[in-house]
Amino acid sequence: MAMVCLSDFEAYAKKYLPKMAWDFFAAGADDCCTRDENILAYKRIHFRPRMLRDVSTMDISTKLLGTEISFPVGIAPTGFHQLAWPDGEKSTARAAKAMNTCYIASTYSTCTLEEISAAAPGGLRWFQLYIHRNRAVSQQLVQQAEALGFQGLVLTADLPYTGKRRDDVRNGFRLPPHMKLKNLEGAFEGDDRSEYGLPPNSVDPSVTWSDIYWLRSLTHLPIIIKGILTKEDAELAVRHGVQGIIVSNHGGRQLDGGPATIDALVEVVEAVQGSVEVYLDGGIRKGSDVLKALALGAKCVFIGRPALWGLAYKGEEGLQDVLRILQDEFRLSMALAGCASVSEIGRHLVQFSKL
Ligand code: FNR
Repeated sequence: MAMVCLSDFEAYAKKYLPKMAWDFFAAGADDCCTRDENILAYKRIHFRPRMLRDVSTMDISTKLLGTEISFPVGIAPTGFHQLAWPDGEKSTARAAKAMNTCYIASTYSTCTLEEISAAAPGGLRWFQLYIHRNRAVSQQLVQQAEALGFQGLVLTADLPYTGKRRDDVRNGFRLPPHMKLKNLEGAFEGDDRSEYGLPPNSVDPSVTWSDIYWLRSLTHLPIIIKGILTKEDAELAVRHGVQGIIVSNHGGRQLDGGPATIDALVEVVEAVQGSVEVYLDGGIRKGSDVLKALALGAKCVFIGRPALWGLAYKGEEGLQDVLRILQDEFRLSMALAGCASVSEIGRHLVQFSKL
């Protein structure tokens, strides 16, 4: 099977993954409107390409909080990589390092943070945190991530409770017995692990903006907040001293009926006025999607499901294939739009009417 675009990896994963794993990866909340909008919204945005601009030499590299990456696509945090490939997050870390990009490791990894670090020493990694009711657990994870050389702390803000994903309910989703949320072993009392490998309601729903100060007191790492969709929250994020914002709706897995992330990006970018870096995830499936997101002000984008499809195809190698295809498509889209370097990408490149 020739793997030409990311949809080919999606088709492969759908065909070969066990149904429960495929359904878990694919799931959106409720009617999946927001999940699907994330993709559809790109089709409504058109380019204003420029011609005759010498694109014989291309520079597609960029920087994430000062660290150079090979192109502006990183790996979003997703849980349970062993559902896709036996080596799980270790393979993800290796692929990200080989492609010189950033991997955000999830709290809900099936490998420990030590294993992830040891698999790809020196790779650029951020750690994604869910704050649990047991705050000592969160504190310990943050400090461990910093000690292991993770270079950023990503606080996910859009999951006070888990969204209702119907297929997971229908399937009675359970982690296979040999898989564990390795970074949370021993963190909770009792045997009930019925909610995605955890006791029900273990995430702390009382988290507020002032908890950013608590995190700040625990670590020197830059704090990036993930799950912002409005200018009001973007302004609050800046006021509370974060270094970056990921415009995200959790791949449409939380509140159904919210905006596509590419549509929310513009108001967030306008609100922060360059004071912090703004990133985006959700619905990135082609190099031209990356170009549209950068044109509308994202510094970098992240992929969630496509990384899992790459892992399901061939582990580390499959994920590298996914990243390489996106990289080639992005370079080509840039050249065809008349941009020889990322710094030439701007709002002028797209026709975009505000909602
Ligand atoms: C996620 N996402 C997610 N986010 C997070 O902060 N922590 C996590 O553990 C997870 N886990 C997770 C599992 C799976 C299977 C999916 C699909 C998503 C959300 C993720 O980081 C990202 O926001 C979306 O996946 C981006 O959308 P796309 O690229 O999947 O369309």
